[in-house]
Amino acid sequence: MTSEKKVDVTISDYTVRELKPEELLEGVKVYLQSFGYTIESAENDKSLWKKLFNRNMAKFITAEENGKLMGVAGLFLFDPIATVGYMCVLQEYRRRGVGKAIFTAIMELATSLNYESIGLYASEFGEPLYRKFGFQGEHYVRQYQILSNNTKIKIQDDKIKIIENLPNWVLDLDKLSVGIDRTKYFRIQMELGAKLIVVKDKGFGFYHNGKIGPVIAQGAETAVDIINKSISLGADHLITSKFDVLSECLSNTIKLDKGGNLPNLKMYYGKRVPQSLNYVYALSSFAIG
Ligand SMILES: CC(C)(COP(=O)(O)OP(=O)(O)OC[C@H]1O[C@@H](n2cnc3c(N)ncnc32)[C@H](O)[C@@H]1OP(=O)(O)O)[C@@H](O)C(=O)NCCC(=O)NCCS
Repeated sequence: MTSEKKVDVTISDYTVRELKPEELLEGVKVYLQSFGYTIESAENDKSLWKKLFNRNMAKFITAEENGKLMGVAGLFLFDPIATVGYMCVLQEYRRRGVGKAIFTAIMELATSLNYESIGLYASEFGEPLYRKFGFQGEHYVRQYQILSNNTKIKIQDDKIKIIENLPNWVLDLDKLSVGIDRTKYFRIQMELGAKLIVVKDKGFGFYHNGKIGPVIAQGAETAVDIINKSISLGADHLITSKFDVLSECLSNTIKLDKGGNLPNLKMYYGKRVPQSLNYVYALSSFAIG
């Protein structure tokens, strides 16, 4: 006869489900804390999540235990692929299978929405999980600090402009470069204050809150001009996969420093979409785990 005393048994009783609209702020806080950020920017991040959510551009999954959110992840509904972002579990709930449960729900959601391709940027923590689901690595990306003190800014003002509208050539060039339609996402970014810097027909970049990205340009010279313009507006960091190319082209104009930032791996699942990655000089965001 075994003892009736219950010892050494942890019964996990959490629920994995879609995040409710009234939980967006709490979800954002879980994301910020899990990635090691302060929650100062929570209201700003919430504005982005809310717009993405309300316009049916994103769905968020959470795991909840006794009314407390343990982790979140977002599925972003682009055409023709979906991307995953903000995948995280609070430190105290890790290594119990919660991350796997959330990611399983994300994959089921993507499948139910008929997505055949899924993309994401994996931190060193996330990569083993995604590999188990069949994701494959493409290339590494990294966040760099822009050392503006060492930067000589040579802006040709007549050809670089900040514009208020979102012209078709920008959308076409973006689609050609990354293979997906980001029109609605860019509109939301501009509504939230992102500035669109353009060299007409050749390239563009979004500047927002100290960061330049994405920068899409048909040549390095145009990319340099756009990045320089963003530095004059206050940009101090960017995320790129092309540091080697950039550093060669930019060594006399822009100094980048990788500091202690770890690289992230771009990963994909399913069918690959045609892309022209040689046009992509900076990304809009990635996971910093
Ligand atoms: C990545 C992350 C979401 C994983 O969350 P998690 O809840 O710890 O994930 P899981 O528990 O499902 O799996 C993680 C590991 O725990 C192991 N594990 C799962 N259940 C376990 C259990 N009951 N006991 C012990 N280990 C367990 C898994 O096998 C896995 O180990 P492995 O990677 O060595 O194979 C989490 O580490 C995190 O939020 N990191 C910071 C943010 C980040 O980098 N996010 C990823 C962005 S791409």
